[in-house]
Amino acid sequence: MDKLVIEGGRPLKGSVTVSGSKNALLPILAATLLTPEKCVIKNAPLLSDTYTMLRILRHLGVSAEIDGSTIHVKSGKLKKFNAPYRFVSTMRASFCVLGPLLARLKKAEVSLPGGCVIGIRPVDLHLKGLKALGANIEIKEGYVCAQAKRLSGKQIFLGGSFGSSVLATANVMMAATLTPGTTIIENAACEPETVDLANFLNRMGAKIKGQGSPRIEIKGVKYLSGAKYEIIPDRIEAITFAIAAALSKGEVTIKNVRVEHLSAVIEKLVEAGVKVKKGKNFIFVKRTGSLRPVDITTLPYPGFPTDVQAQFMALMSVASGISVITEKIYPDRFMHISELNRMGAQIFRQGPYSIVHGVKNLKGAQVMASDLRASAALVLAGLIAKDKTEVFRIYHLDRGYENLDKKLTQLGARIYRGKQ
Ligand code: EPZ
Repeated sequence: MDKLVIEGGRPLKGSVTVSGSKNALLPILAATLLTPEKCVIKNAPLLSDTYTMLRILRHLGVSAEIDGSTIHVKSGKLKKFNAPYRFVSTMRASFCVLGPLLARLKKAEVSLPGGCVIGIRPVDLHLKGLKALGANIEIKEGYVCAQAKRLSGKQIFLGGSFGSSVLATANVMMAATLTPGTTIIENAACEPETVDLANFLNRMGAKIKGQGSPRIEIKGVKYLSGAKYEIIPDRIEAITFAIAAALSKGEVTIKNVRVEHLSAVIEKLVEAGVKVKKGKNFIFVKRTGSLRPVDITTLPYPGFPTDVQAQFMALMSVASGISVITEKIYPDRFMHISELNRMGAQIFRQGPYSIVHGVKNLKGAQVMASDLRASAALVLAGLIAKDKTEVFRIYHLDRGYENLDKKLTQLGARIYRGKQ
């Protein structure tokens, strides 16, 4: 297994270009199952979750080729309708092949994803939506076995106790594109990645309106054709670099961003005393003075993203005061606290709340990554910690960031990959 070794204390300087969005790409790759024709997906980030999704598609009979950051897929006549546990247990997003398989083949067998370190990760909203469309769903030996004689459009409320669901909205929206009649999804996810999926489906010939709002309308069509599409930039990667620049007292231009996707976090960075200049498709981030403590609460988009909570906590760990971090999406998403505290941070968890007492600086240590965004937070902490930090199990990081260590090195960080 790989580790990252970071020698901290060097301000990041220069510019970096953000890759395509992992969380837009994964459901869009699943959506290619809705047509037998060829699809061409551009600006695809090549990271381990991408390869996992392509393994699932190939298992189902899809032909898939990677050419640089472009992926060519053609599902043709699908050979299988099942997504085995070995795939779904490694990557929860695999679960969003359920909707397309059900719509295309009227049957699907997809392993339940199980939980992960950030939470129990239920799928009740996915199943509620597909049942509403007419699917008959049984759980057998850890698999969701779905079939449908006939699907028909319905009005579906898809809000749960934690608000909207990104991938439940994706699964139901994809199934509804080939479902006769009109489907209305209420309390739909408004994330940019959900909008990107809807735009790709419309490029294929679907009839979707309202994407980006809590009410999405899908008029079923008989057939979807292949399409060419370019994935939106990864807003979480962009924000990760912005926080890295602020943490290291550097000045970095982050290119290829949709500035409008970053509002909630830019607001909090400015409140913390970080200088952020917005360009047409870039942001310039600079920090000189001390950091002010800032309270954050994670919410569905356009609120503060849960996928940035760990990275922002690393920033607040060296602010000049006390900040409160409230995690409303995944109340257990705090595995990074113990590791940050091993680096000298002073963070105390109380249920879904964490109290961060800012310290002067962090100290290098050997730390363990536990999940994708926690590993990013530990790398960022290593950038400013005095002397050396080693981050183990960085396969978590490689799931969701394309060459993060190389990009940070280009900005002046002293960071290299080694064997554990
Ligand atoms: C997507 O996961 C993202 N993953 C996650 O990013 C992100 O953290 C999450 O949305 C929230 O923004 C991908 O897009 C591949 P949810 P998803 O369904 O769709 C509860 C990363 O780091 N819920 O929006 O699985 C759920 O427990 C990953 O890139 C139900 O109760 O998340 C959570 O509390 C991590 N029932 C809340 O809703 C359901 O059926 C939001 O989860 C589904 C979800």
